[in-house]
Amino acid sequence: MCGIVGYTGAQHAAPVLLDGLSKLEYRGYDSAGIAVAQDGAIAISKVTGRIANLQEKTDNGRLVPGTTGIGHTRWATHGAPTDFNAHPHASNDGKFAVVHNGIIENYLELRQELTRKGYRFESETDTETIVHLVEMYYQGDFQRAVMKASARLRGSYALGIICTDEPDRIFVVREASPLIIGLGIGENYFASDVTALVAYTRNAIYLDDGEFAELTPDGVQVFDCTGHPVEKKINRITWDIQAAEKGGYEHFMLKEIMEQPRAVKATIAPRLKNGEVSLDGMDIDLRRVNKILITACGSAYYAGCAGKCTIERLCRIPVQAELASELRYADPLIDDKTLLIVLSQSGETADTIAAMKECQRQGAKALAIVNVVGSTIAKLADYTLYTWAGPEIAVATTKGYTTQLTVLYLFALYGARKLGRIEMEEYARLISALKALPKQMQQVLDMNPAIEKLAKKYHKHPSMFFIGRNTDYAVALEGALKMKEISYIHAESYAAGELKHGTIALIHEGQPVIALCCNEAVTEKTMSNIIEVKARGAEVLAIAFRGNAKIVSLADDMIYIPKSDPLFCAAVEIVPLQKLAYYVAKENGCDIDKPKNLAKSVTVE
Ligand code: G6P
Repeated sequence: MCGIVGYTGAQHAAPVLLDGLSKLEYRGYDSAGIAVAQDGAIAISKVTGRIANLQEKTDNGRLVPGTTGIGHTRWATHGAPTDFNAHPHASNDGKFAVVHNGIIENYLELRQELTRKGYRFESETDTETIVHLVEMYYQGDFQRAVMKASARLRGSYALGIICTDEPDRIFVVREASPLIIGLGIGENYFASDVTALVAYTRNAIYLDDGEFAELTPDGVQVFDCTGHPVEKKINRITWDIQAAEKGGYEHFMLKEIMEQPRAVKATIAPRLKNGEVSLDGMDIDLRRVNKILITACGSAYYAGCAGKCTIERLCRIPVQAELASELRYADPLIDDKTLLIVLSQSGETADTIAAMKECQRQGAKALAIVNVVGSTIAKLADYTLYTWAGPEIAVATTKGYTTQLTVLYLFALYGARKLGRIEMEEYARLISALKALPKQMQQVLDMNPAIEKLAKKYHKHPSMFFIGRNTDYAVALEGALKMKEISYIHAESYAAGELKHGTIALIHEGQPVIALCCNEAVTEKTMSNIIEVKARGAEVLAIAFRGNAKIVSLADDMIYIPKSDPLFCAAVEIVPLQKLAYYVAKENGCDIDKPKNLAKSVTVE
């Protein structure tokens, strides 16, 4: 949630800040602002709405001179998305400005204390308390004031702070919110994630919780919370600039859908060596593991639901998938024989981090399956497997989800082999099936006109049901979520066998039901459920393997996908649903990459 950037150097800062913010807009996009220090003052420009409005207001930054500044794109938590509540926030004396990503949990008591002391609040935000604290503690020493103010804060925060007295100095502070420093020559940067930095530098420092840093044009110094200098590793950013651009596609989501075969291939290829799955750095003794607990949020959780079926089937270890927001408060039954698998594209989701910490506290070892290198979850994990999907910008995940599935499949095969629970012949057959996934996904991607046509037929319906069993049900969950989040159509996913326990009451003439029928062990059962909804007037769109002739006579519309192994087919089966959601949203004129009320990286509880 929220994106922050900063720049200090010889260049005009505002255009750099605006460019960085445009790359971070997926983190939040209800208001934005920049603050630039110049001639003993700080010029602040803010708008409600998108970065484009800020670019227009500032004439692409030309109207805001100065070479050191900070910027923010907001996803509102405390206070409505208005100009007043937009960051940066300034101190009453005008000496300081701050941008903040995260939540200050003790802001009410701080606000009362500061109000009592005479500080005037201009917004409803928790953030404004920070800048007044800095002013209160400032006695000519900027660093000391930042340290003292930070020590008063509880919650999560990544901060960027500037001061008129030292116009080419920025302090950044990190506690439980991502913050990366980009190193240039004669200039330095900070941002919430590397997508805002790749156009400027490939060298980055990842701050750890409790650290803060001073940025000037000539250097960066990192400190621990007591003010002692800390030596940090310089990391090389491997993502390229094109990866964070639309590259000719109308939307990031479409680009990312199309990138899936390549991303899945990149996830599999380095992990297959001499016909074996090899997972670097995994020295887990799986024979000691008596339970696998998968946790995540949103689509990552749904990837976990599909992965659960495959891991259980191949490894014969009980697997439980739990929503992180539930697990963190559920007092789960965990011990040192539990293996926790944490799924997260961003590696920064607050609930997932909290659930992970709780399980680790109780003795579980955590294996993280993450896309963003150096993210909080990757750092906290005992073992990390990266998904190598490249940057994902659209709020609705696509390649993030399918690469998570792919790593779960690799893990299932790896585990089955380590535990001696798979015959060599079957193992070799499944490795070939896994290697075939990118090609099969590509074949679905090449079916464009058919899916666009279906979108034109279905886009006007106010609600849709997605049904399936076992892995098909897991795909139904993700398919319905895609439809809801980008097209705003009410979409429900149901385990097909559960329909008759209530949901079937909602089926009426013309009600669209998307039926997933790829898991051959249960397709006949799902077909009975199709007959039941058809009998009540439903319009059925079925997704099945090419060659399944029986379904044609039942469904009103068909999408055939190439035959893949039922253990891995979720990765192929989801692709037509992603495209259907995309084209339905497009028909309905929705803002596909930035759906209303959502943000990609959910760093608040
Ligand atoms: C948000 C995103 C989803 C994502 C979920 C979990 O809701 O919009 O696409 O699945 O967060 O995010 P993570 O980064 O942990 O996978």
